[in-house]
Amino acid sequence: MTSHRLTVSLESRSYSIYIGSGLTKVGANPIALPQLRGKKGVVITNTTIAPLYLERVQEWLAAAGYESSPIIIPDGEEYKNHEILQRLYREIFESGLQRNGFVCALGGGVVGDLAGYAAATYMRGIDLIQLPTTILAQVDSAIGGKNGVNLEFGKNLVGTTYQPRVVISDIDFIATLPERESFCGFGEVVKYALLAGDDFISFLEMNHPEIMKQDPRSLASMTLSCSRIKADYVVRDEYDLLGVRAVLNLGHTIGHALEKMYAYQQLAHGEAVAIGLVCALLLSVTMNLLTESGFQRALQLLKLYGLPMLVPADANVDELIDLMRRDKKAGRNLSMILLRGLGDPYLEENIDAGLLRETLEKCKQPVH
Ligand code: NAD
Ligand code: GLY
Repeated sequence: MTSHRLTVSLESRSYSIYIGSGLTKVGANPIALPQLRGKKGVVITNTTIAPLYLERVQEWLAAAGYESSPIIIPDGEEYKNHEILQRLYREIFESGLQRNGFVCALGGGVVGDLAGYAAATYMRGIDLIQLPTTILAQVDSAIGGKNGVNLEFGKNLVGTTYQPRVVISDIDFIATLPERESFCGFGEVVKYALLAGDDFISFLEMNHPEIMKQDPRSLASMTLSCSRIKADYVVRDEYDLLGVRAVLNLGHTIGHALEKMYAYQQLAHGEAVAIGLVCALLLSVTMNLLTESGFQRALQLLKLYGLPMLVPADANVDELIDLMRRDKKAGRNLSMILLRGLGDPYLEENIDAGLLRETLEKCKQPVH
C-alpha cells in the first residue's frame, strides 16, 4: 500500500504528515524522515502501548540512524498532569539529551499532549515527532501543535502551541485499538465531515463497511481527508486567535460541558462530542441556518457510525449551560460553532440561552 503525504505549511515550522500502513516497520513502507537536529532521543509511550509497539518503533528509528531510549508512563487521562511532566523532564535529563535531542510521542492524545508539552518546554524546545496510535490522535490531536496538561480544576488549562517536525500516522496501530476508542475517533471524523461538506460526507457514507472492517486503504483515505481539513484550519490560524481554527470545536462546547458534568467518568470525549454535534445541528435548524434535509443527512451519518446521540435524561440543562459559559474556548458570551449548511461552519458568539435550553431538553429524546 502506498502512503499519503501532506504538508502543513507554516513557514519555518512547516512539516509533513505521512499516512499509511507499515510506516514504522523497518523496510515495509520507507519514508524520508526530516533532518532532526541530533541523532539521540527518547520515545515517550505508556504501559499499554509499550508492549505492542515500542520495540518496533525503536528498531525503525535505529534503522533510520536514530538512537532512542524509552520513557514509559502509566495509562490514563488522570496522568496528564504536572507530576508525570516532572517525571518526563527528569528522565529526559537522565537520558543525557541536549538541545539537539528529540522526543518521539508514541500513543494517543494523552501521550501526545504530554510529550508535546515536554518537548516544547525542555531546554526551550527540542525536536518532536508525533507517532499517533489512536484514530482520534491520527485525525486530530497529533496535528496542529496544541499540547498540555490538566490542572485539578480543569482540562488542558496549561499548554503551548508547538509544531512537531513530522507526524507519522501508521494505520497498522489501529488494529489493536479497543472498539470504544475507535468510536471516540469516529466522533471527531464525523465532525470533520460536517465541517467539510458533501464530498467527505459521501465518502464516509459509501465507505462505511470498509472503514468498520478497518480496511487499511479506507482508513488511510479517511485519515488523509481529516488531516487535510485540520491542517487547512491550522495554517490559517495557527495560534487559534482569529476565530478560524475555532470551528474545529464544532460539538465541543457542549461535549466538554457534558464530560465535565459527568466528572469524565460516564462519557468518553468522542461520545460527548457526538452528542454535542447533534445539539449544534438541532440549534442550527431551529435558527433557520441549516435545512431539514442537511440536518437529516448529518443525523444519519452519526447513526451509521454508531455514535451516541442523546443528551442523558438525567442531565441538568441549566448546569450544562453554566459549564458551557465557563468553557475556556467559549469566550465571555455564550458562543458555539453552528452550521449555515453542511460544510459551512461559523462561530456564533451570541447564543440565546433560552433557545439553547430548549434545544438541550429536546436532545434528551431522538430528534428525528
Ligand atoms: P488516549 O490517549 O487516552 O488513548 C485511549 C486509550 O487507548 C488508552 O488507554 C491508550 O493506552 C489506548 N491505546 C492507544 N493506542 C492504542 C493502540 N494502538 N492499541 C491499543 N490501545 C491503544 O485517548 P485519545 O482519545 O487518543 O486522546 C484523548 C486526549 O487527547 C485527551 O487528553 C484530549 O484532551 C487530547 N486531545 C488533544 C488535542 C490537541 O489538539 N492537542 C485534540 C483532541 C484531543
Ligand atoms: N483540537 C482543536 C484544535 O486543535 O484546535
